[in-house]
Amino acid sequence: MSSASAVLNATIKNNLPMKDLQELIDRIDPARIPCHVAIIMDGNGRWARMQGKPRSDGHAEGVTSVHRAVEFASDLGIKYLTLYAFSTENWNRPQEEVDTLMYLIGWAIERELPDLLRNNVRIRLIGNIPRIPEDARRRLLGAEEATAHCTGMVLGMCLSYSSRWEITEAARRIASLATGGDLNPDDITEDIFSSHLATAGMPDPDLLIRTGGEERISNFLLWQIAYSELYFTPTLWPDFNKSDFASALIDYQQRERRFGKTSAQVSESPLPDESYGLSD
Ligand code: IPE
Ligand code: IPE
Ligand code: MG
Repeated sequence: MSSASAVLNATIKNNLPMKDLQELIDRIDPARIPCHVAIIMDGNGRWARMQGKPRSDGHAEGVTSVHRAVEFASDLGIKYLTLYAFSTENWNRPQEEVDTLMYLIGWAIERELPDLLRNNVRIRLIGNIPRIPEDARRRLLGAEEATAHCTGMVLGMCLSYSSRWEITEAARRIASLATGGDLNPDDITEDIFSSHLATAGMPDPDLLIRTGGEERISNFLLWQIAYSELYFTPTLWPDFNKSDFASALIDYQQRERRFGKTSAQVSESPLPDESYGLSD
C-alpha cells in the first residue's frame, strides 16, 4: 500500500492535527521519494529525563516512535528503512540498561510482527547478531524468518552494529578468500567490497536522519553514507512523529544531489536517487 490515502488513514492513529500533517504530505513529491532512508534514533534518555522518568521509559516510548516511522515509510513507498537500534558501543552502558533494551527489542519485534506481515515489510537484521542474548535473538531471528517472503519495504534493524566492526569483518572475509586462492586481490572492486558488508545487496542510503540534536555519525554505515544527504534534527526520538519525518523528506527533496558533477550537468540530465553506490 503506497497511496496518499493510505498515509492519511495511518495518520488517524497518530494523535496529530491531521490537517497539518496532510499539508506536509502534500508537499512531498511522490516521484522523488528516497529509495533508502537510514535513521540514528537518538534522544530516548533525554526524553525520559525531561519527563522525570527512568531512561527505560524513554526506550519504551522509542518503540512507539519506531512503529510510527515504519508505518509512515512503508505507506509512502520507501523501499528500505534502516534503523540504528543498538550500537557495538552501547554494550558499554550500565548492565541494567542493556538488559532493558534487549528485553524491549525482543518484546517489540514480536508484538510488531503481525503488523509487519500485514504491511508486507521484510525484516533484515544487520550487526553482530550472535552477541545478542538468547531470548531476544530468538525472537529477532524468528521475525526475520517469518517476514522473509515479504516483498514490500525492507526494514533493516542495526543491532550490536558498528561500521568499523562491519568493515573489519568484510576485510577479514575478503583476505581469507584471497589467501585461499578464491579471489585475486587485483579483482577487488568497490562492488565486491560492498558485497561483503552486512548491508550486502542494499542500495546506499539516500537520506540519513539523526534525531536528538547531536551532529555526529557514531560509527553508523560509514562506507554506505559516502554520498547520503544528512539531516539532523533536535527532536528527541520518542517525539519524532510523522510530521517530523515528512519535514525531513521535504528538506531532502529540496537538495541537489550532484555526485561530483556540476549543477549544470545535473540539471541537463537528472540523476536517479540510487545513482551512487552498488553499480558505480
Ligand atoms: C537512543 O537514545 C537509544 C539507544 C542508543 C539505544 P539514548 O539512550 O542514546 O538517549 P540519550 O542520547 O541518552 O538522550
Ligand atoms: C547512537 O546513539 C546509537 C544508536 C542510536 C543506537 P548513542 O547515543 O549511543 O550515540 P553517542 O555514543 O552519544 O554518539
Ligand atoms: Mg544517545
